Amino acid sequence: MKTRPVLPGVEWVGAVDWQRGLFDALIPLPDRTSYNSYLIRGSEKTVLVDATEPNLVHVLMTRLEDVEKIDYILSLHAEQDHSGGLPVVMEKYPQAQLLASPKGKENLSTHLSIPADRIRAVQDGETLSLGDKTLHFIHIPWVHWPDTLAAYLVEDRLLFTTDFFGSHLATSDLFASANVPRVYAAAKRYYAEIMMPLRSMVQKNLEKLQGLELAFIAPSHGPVYDQPEFILDAYRQWIGGPLRNTVVLPFVSMHGSTLQMASYFCESLAERGVAADPFDLTNTDIGRIAEALVDAPTLVIGTPTMLGGPHPGVVGATFLVNMLRPRLKYLSVIGSYGWGGRTVEILTEMLTALKTETLTPVLCKGLPGETDFQALDALADAIAERHTTLAEGTGI
Ligand code: FEO
Repeated sequence: MKTRPVLPGVEWVGAVDWQRGLFDALIPLPDRTSYNSYLIRGSEKTVLVDATEPNLVHVLMTRLEDVEKIDYILSLHAEQDHSGGLPVVMEKYPQAQLLASPKGKENLSTHLSIPADRIRAVQDGETLSLGDKTLHFIHIPWVHWPDTLAAYLVEDRLLFTTDFFGSHLATSDLFASANVPRVYAAAKRYYAEIMMPLRSMVQKNLEKLQGLELAFIAPSHGPVYDQPEFILDAYRQWIGGPLRNTVVLPFVSMHGSTLQMASYFCESLAERGVAADPFDLTNTDIGRIAEALVDAPTLVIGTPTMLGGPHPGVVGATFLVNMLRPRLKYLSVIGSYGWGGRTVEILTEMLTALKTETLTPVLCKGLPGETDFQALDALADAIAERHTTLAEGTGI
């Protein structure tokens, strides 16, 4: 396995994971992923950036077969998918100094038991000369852990960003420009799953990087951005751009009543010019819900009442929505019950991280009837009206 040149003196030496199906024992990876590492060969010093997931460190080591000396190993983020291979790399290059942010130093000791005296913490704004190339370190905390660190290769205008701007995408394309639509979709989903809950920090770090001249952004997952403005602009849109005229509708139906309501409600919304993204939670990739929530103003949860509360499948999805902290503005619940319960209260009490207006829920006893369909129409009216108001304020 060979190294792949990004530009003169910078090579990609990472590993593509063509098989992994789940991240964090939670997030489906329909497009698999990659763990990028980069080798920077300055005229005087050589640097390895990150060390891949431990299961694939043999790929990295094969690519480094002919590299006799590494002066610095730069760990941009201590999560194991980028740092797990460090012990193997450090064994081959015992003279190499490990560099990380101060929090990274702490985390590498905590999670990988790397002795603190093997790690040098680099400060925000510090520079490191490699001879004809210079690395400039920028602390970018909370994209994704408090330790995350960016490194700017000044002469090449290349920014290493670890998880920031990444995409879970296994591909043989080194550069994003080879297939922009595919990378955009994977990066949006990645943003939804990893970055959206940390949106205010993502925004701050985006602003912090604003003054840099960029020819390349090299994240630790997915292809290298050789047209960086594409992903920078996408992030600006996902963080604060207009919302879509859409209702996200995750639902479960046990005996068909809630399904009837959800189906009718989608039609009713469509008649009012509002799109719906329904997700049957018995058969849904949760990453798709996360992605739909990036720019949706309204969430309507469909659930039967089960033993006095929402269906457990809905509870799990609602918990996830609250964790993801999307930019939702409106919330409601629809569904069917047999003999009462606290379904709406339980669900709304779970969504403490959202600042939403709750629109009148529609719960019916047993099969939905004419008055229930009228109530769904009224809910669709209320949503259409609010979306129109948002659009007038350019929020859609
Ligand atoms: Fe790709 Fe937060 O690790």
